Amino acid sequence: MLAEAKAAGLEFELIAVREGDKLPFHFEPRVTLTAGAFRAATETVTPQGVIAIARMHDASPVQAIQTARDARWPLVVLDRVQDPGNVGAICRTAAAAGAPALVVLRGTADPFGAKAVRASSGNVFRLVVAAAKWEDLASLDGYGAAASGGSPLASSSIENGGMIVFGSEAHGLSRADLKTVTIPLHDGVESLNVAAAAAVLLFEIKRRKAA
Ligand SMILES: C[S@@+](CC[C@H](N)C(=O)[O-])C[C@H]1O[C@@H](n2cnc3c(N)ncnc32)[C@H](O)[C@@H]1O
Repeated sequence: MLAEAKAAGLEFELIAVREGDKLPFHFEPRVTLTAGAFRAATETVTPQGVIAIARMHDASPVQAIQTARDARWPLVVLDRVQDPGNVGAICRTAAAAGAPALVVLRGTADPFGAKAVRASSGNVFRLVVAAAKWEDLASLDGYGAAASGGSPLASSSIENGGMIVFGSEAHGLSRADLKTVTIPLHDGVESLNVAAAAAVLLFEIKRRKAA
């Protein structure tokens, strides 16, 4: 994850290494912490041996929209996705599918929070990420992913939309006026986990763009 962050040009303010562990690259300044001090400083139960503090420069919504447009990819939009594990997993999937940019609407977990960064395995640093409001996205059409009631995926041109929006775990999409797309599910299954739905839809976009 640190190597990903370094490759993405992140500015580290500090790297702390647990006594006996090694960094995968040379970095100064760094400090070495005893095992006890290291345990006290981390949030995780079984941490790897490195803690880093880095300064992030947020992209603007305009930059994120332009980046997606330049790459002819729908902008990935997270609409109140609350679980940082899901946010991180979606960032990882988006990077893997080739999506270049993602925006988070109010109520979405911070993609640069420690848990989300870990869940993305550092791939969040490959994306242009911005916080946005719906008004910032007014110029974009596109699809909202809906657990039910949307047009079937097979007949929805999601690859041509300006954005693809994923809704909250508990409440779905916050707007009712979006065109919606639904991945058909087997009888009796109400919905997919939002990160699983994102994997299906983003890789379908990748597949269609390559065809
Ligand atoms: C757990 S679902 C939300 C379920 C919620 N009870 C609802 O009424 O929408 C979380 C998000 O995952 C996405 N999702 C889940 N199942 C989907 C499906 N079958 N097709 C498309 N998107 C889906 C949608 O973006 C949805 O807002």
